[in-house]
Amino acid sequence: MKIGLFDSGIGGISVLKKLTYLNGAHYIYIADTDRAPYGIKTPEMLESFVFQFMKFFEHKNVDEIFAACNTTDSIIIEKGLKFDIKYHSIVKAGVCASKSKNVGVIGTNVTIKNETYKKQLEKLDKRVYQKSAQLFVSLVEEGIFYGRMVEAIANFYLNSFKKTNIEELILGCTHFPFLKGIISRVLPNVKIIDPAEELSKEIAVDKSRRPFVEFYVTGDIKDFERKLKRINFRVPHVVHKLKVERLKVGNSEKANIANWNVRSG
Ligand code: DGL
Repeated sequence: MKIGLFDSGIGGISVLKKLTYLNGAHYIYIADTDRAPYGIKTPEMLESFVFQFMKFFEHKNVDEIFAACNTTDSIIIEKGLKFDIKYHSIVKAGVCASKSKNVGVIGTNVTIKNETYKKQLEKLDKRVYQKSAQLFVSLVEEGIFYGRMVEAIANFYLNSFKKTNIEELILGCTHFPFLKGIISRVLPNVKIIDPAEELSKEIAVDKSRRPFVEFYVTGDIKDFERKLKRINFRVPHVVHKLKVERLKVGNSEKANIANWNVRSG
């Protein structure tokens, strides 16, 4: 089985890790580091990225896609985008995972502005407090997971939740679980929800073989390899360069997809 994932960078690895633990599939992970971060892009740009990835996954004969990015998932939900390949939503999984009445949500600027979590949780009669925490994305990409600066930024984003009565905080961005330690120190009495936990229940368990990951990186592949080491990513893998220009092949030029320029790192 081939599973596709995409994100602006290493955030989606918080999802990938959970899936590889449960299923020894062949994973194709696009890290669009050249166009990161996604949380400050326009909906139109993000929609076009999504369709570029879908074409790439079709070309790679991917069987299922697991959302590894809340920002694009929020665009997919808000615009009602549909695909030929089965797609598993992380936002819907996060909503499903929520069990309390008063819920906090943090995400990127786009996810929070779209209110995708908020609207879905409110339909379930919950009270929702949401806040964008865009800088967390840069911290994680830079490999800054602890220290005074992280604490200051975490306090800046999370202190306002202390005035609420939230019982849970949904990490509505796949980069955020890398900062779970500091987040739960700032909000010690709040249950932290990583939607990837719930999302991973949607993959069939198959441990009959070892997982393998092909990374396709639009930015600097050496830099990406360094990041993989930093987060101690141990699943067998290979890193390829994927040029953004090659992703921009139009629908009418589908035949050109075969020429996609990928090379091993
Ligand atoms: N990790 C992504 C998300 O879950 C995108 C973060 C970004 O690039 O701003 O939203």
